[in-house]
This record gives sequence, structure tokens and C-alpha cells, in this order.
Amino acid sequence: MIEIERISRAFGGLQAVRSVSFTVAEGSVTGLIGPNGAGKSTLFSIIAGALPPDSGVIRLRGEDITGLPTHQLFHKGLVRTFQIPHEFSRMTVRENLMVVPARQRGENLLQSWLRWPTVVREDREILRKADEVLEFLEIDHLRDELAGNLSGGQKKLLDLGRTMMTDAKAVLLDEPGAGVNRTLLGKLADAIERLNRERGYTFCVIEHDMDLIARLCDPVMVMANGELIAHGDMATLRENPQVREAYLGTGGSGDQGAATS
Ligand SMILES: Nc1ncnc2c1ncn2[C@@H]1O[C@H](COP(=O)(O)OP(=O)(O)OP(=O)(O)O)[C@@H](O)[C@H]1O
Ligand SMILES: [Mg+2]
Repeated sequence: MIEIERISRAFGGLQAVRSVSFTVAEGSVTGLIGPNGAGKSTLFSIIAGALPPDSGVIRLRGEDITGLPTHQLFHKGLVRTFQIPHEFSRMTVRENLMVVPARQRGENLLQSWLRWPTVVREDREILRKADEVLEFLEIDHLRDELAGNLSGGQKKLLDLGRTMMTDAKAVLLDEPGAGVNRTLLGKLADAIERLNRERGYTFCVIEHDMDLIARLCDPVMVMANGELIAHGDMATLRENPQVREAYLGTGGSGDQGAATS
């Protein structure tokens, strides 16, 4: 579904991504792991049109989408979430969901704010969809809460909910489990699984929590120092000396003992 072909990107003298190629197959939940600074988020930014690559091609269902801006990718069915959630803290949870379709039309934040009263009055369909998303994620009790008051885990669920407000079926999740407590993590994993199995979503997931990756993802891609160093199922990767070296070696801190845990 998403083909990443020889993508490279440098920041000054730092080669953040080096000729990375892999495919996210339609219907898969593909994992992307690697130590801090491996280049994972940079690669996501390139796929999602937020950052141009120095070289390489991204294809979505065979179509070259390299360098297309985010709102055009929305229309083609590709969205991403950020490592740090981008909620509008002074809007309620439901409002955060309801502004997504406006942004999908390419409106900027100011435009969606100006249009906001119209959105509330007219867009019953969007309201219905927002409520359906809140129920699906089991956060309907938080509907009228200001997003800024949510816990880290609730914000991550809201982030996932925001992707569900689009028609996109190819979703990039950057560390959905970071800072999420165990209970909410289970909920989040359930939601991702159900979207994948019941609603035909394809995911690519960056995550440091190896249990979450093992539960959700097959195959898993491993990056280190900008390169793709291995791929396969999680059980095999845990035994892979190169992967273990990447986590234990000098490159990154390897957070939670990642691949060796
Ligand atoms: N906008 C930028 N300008 C300069 N350097 C950057 C920029 N974005 C990322 N980098 C650098 O590129 C490298 C890859 O960063 P990236 O954020 O892609 O890593 P990551 O694999 O997502 O790490 P983490 O697991 O810590 O989120 C790092 O060395 C980082 O400091
Ligand atoms: Mg990152």
C-alpha cells in the first residue's frame, strides 16, 4: 500500500535517513522500531509530506506521492499522528474531532476557527461521526472535557480518533503508546486491532514498547543510524544479533531495554 523506495534525508552534516526501502502491505500493521535518533520520525515526516526527502520515492497504491503536502495526502487516504499529540487544548474533545474534516479541506487553523460556528450549526453528519468515534474508543464520557485536561494516554486515544474522522485508511502512528498507562494502552491496542481487522485500516506504527509491537505488528522494520538494518517478526528480531547490538551499542539509549526485554 505504501512503498518507500531508497529514501534519504540529511540535516546539515547528519544523515538522518539513509536509502531506506520497505513496503507497508495493505491490511498489515507494520512496526517500525529502532533506538532513539534512528530516523523513524524523520521517515514518517517524509512519508506524510511534512518534510521533503533529498532523494527517493514514496508511492501510495502505486501512485507517486513524494513531497505532496499533508492535506492532499488526506484526500488520497494517508494520515499520521505525531510523537507529541497535537490537540487543541482549549477545545473540547468532541470539538477536536469535529475540526478535522475542515482541516482535511485544506483550511488552516484560523479558517477552521472562523468557520467553527457554521460547523457546529450545520454539520450534523460530522457531529454524528465524532460521537461514533468517541464511542468506538470508549471515551464518550470525555466528550465535553477540554482536550488540554486529558491525561497523556487519553490524548493519544484522541489522536487516533482524529485520524478516524478522515476517510484515510493508511495511518502512520508515531509512538502511540508513549506515556500511556497500562489500562489505556490495552484500550489503544484493542482499537488499533479492531480498526485493522474490522474496518480495513493499514497501519505503520513507530513504538518503543516492544510488548505492544509484538502484540500488534507483523512485520517489524528495524532502523538504526538512519538505515534499515533488519525486518521480520518480533520473535525472530529479538534474537537477531544486529538488532540487539543496535539497542545495546553506542547509537541510542535503547529506552526500555527494548529488543532484549
Ligand atoms: N528538523 C531537524 N533538524 C535537525 N536534525 C534533526 C531534525 N529532525 C531530526 N533530526 C535528527 O535526525 C536524527 C533522527 O531523528 P528522528 O527524530 O527521526 O529519530 P527517531 O528514530 O524518531 O528517534 P526517537 O525514537 O527518539 O523519537 C536525530 O539525530 C535527530 O536529532
Ligand atoms: Mg521519533
